[in-house]
Amino acid sequence: MRVAIAADHGGYALKEEIKKYLESAGIEYEDFGCNCEDSVDYPDYALPVAEKVAAGEFDRGILICGTGIGMSIAANKVKGIRCALVHDCFTAKATREHNDSNILAMGARVIGSGLALEIAKIWLETEFSGGRHLRRIEKIKEIEEKY
Ligand code: RB5
Repeated sequence: MRVAIAADHGGYALKEEIKKYLESAGIEYEDFGCNCEDSVDYPDYALPVAEKVAAGEFDRGILICGTGIGMSIAANKVKGIRCALVHDCFTAKATREHNDSNILAMGARVIGSGLALEIAKIWLETEFSGGRHLRRIEKIKEIEEKY
C-alpha cells in the first residue's frame, strides 16, 4: 500500500507522528508537506494528496489540520475522493467497510496522538465490505457526474 500524507501547520506535529507509525509498520508513504509550523492554507495541501489518490498514484491519503474539517471539505471537492473525517475507532472501521473512504482526515486539535495513531492503524487495515455498500458508492459517483 502507498499512502500520500499532508498537513497544515495545525496538523504538522501529528503528521510527523503518523509518519513514524507508517515507517514502523513498513507502509510506503510520500509526504506532501507542510514542513514546519509556519501558518499555511490547508487547501494547498489537501489538493495534491486528493489528486494523487484520485489518479491512482497512491492507494490512500491521510490529511491533518486543526479540526480535520477544512482538509476533508477541500479533498472531497476532487472527483473520486471519499474523504472521511474521523475522531473515533468505530468510525475509522465503519467508513472503510461502508464508504470505502480513500482519504482519512483528522483534527490534531481535537484528539491526542495516541488515539489518532490507533485510528490511522484501524483505517489502513480495514477492507471495504462491498455488497450493498457498493451500490451506494455508485450513487455517490452519479452525483459527481451530475455536478
Ligand atoms: C488553521 O488555523 C485551521 O483553520 C485549520 O487547521 C483547520 O482547522 C481548518 O479546518
